Amino acid sequence: MIETILMTHSLLTKLFLGFLVGGLFMPMMTAKNPQSLKKVSLIYTAIFQGIITMIAFAGLVAMVVGEYPMSLAIILMIVIWAVMMYIEIRKHKLVKIANLENPVTYKLIRGVFVKVGIVQILLVAAMVVLMVLRAKGVISL
Ligand code: HEM
Repeated sequence: MIETILMTHSLLTKLFLGFLVGGLFMPMMTAKNPQSLKKVSLIYTAIFQGIITMIAFAGLVAMVVGEYPMSLAIILMIVIWAVMMYIEIRKHKLVKIANLENPVTYKLIRGVFVKVGIVQILLVAAMVVLMVLRAKGVISL
């Protein structure tokens, strides 16, 4: 049971990583119609929140079922989760209020979209690497 939950948690994390990498190309699709970046951002943020909520849910269930005590690794996961959610909401709010008809603003916002995506990818990848290193006994978290 616990193995299945942890596997789901781990698979969702990898799916999320793939989604984030794909997301880096989203702004490029809006080059012909800058205004469409608002719609793209809305859908992107909704899917983002859906997957990250499932990750947290599977993690919480794993914690309860597996009776894991609060460890540094789990605290780090919760902090990363909260930071990612926070910056995603801030980014979406920025895209929502921006005047994308202005080419300078549009370019700026596209840059923000990609930079935030890269920070999020690094956060998730770092967590995955830390957990792999821990499983191999290289570090203790
Ligand atoms: C509220 C959020 C979360 C909770 C409560 C949670 C909980 C857990 C628990 C209990 C484990 C098993 C720990 C152990 O083996 O000692 C785990 C494993 C793991 N978590 Fe999370 N987690 C959360 C969010 C995240 C996030 C956001 C990420 C990615 C950035 C993540 C990545 C991982 C990875 C890679 C593993 C190792 C899975 C494996 O052993 O195959 N978790 N998590």
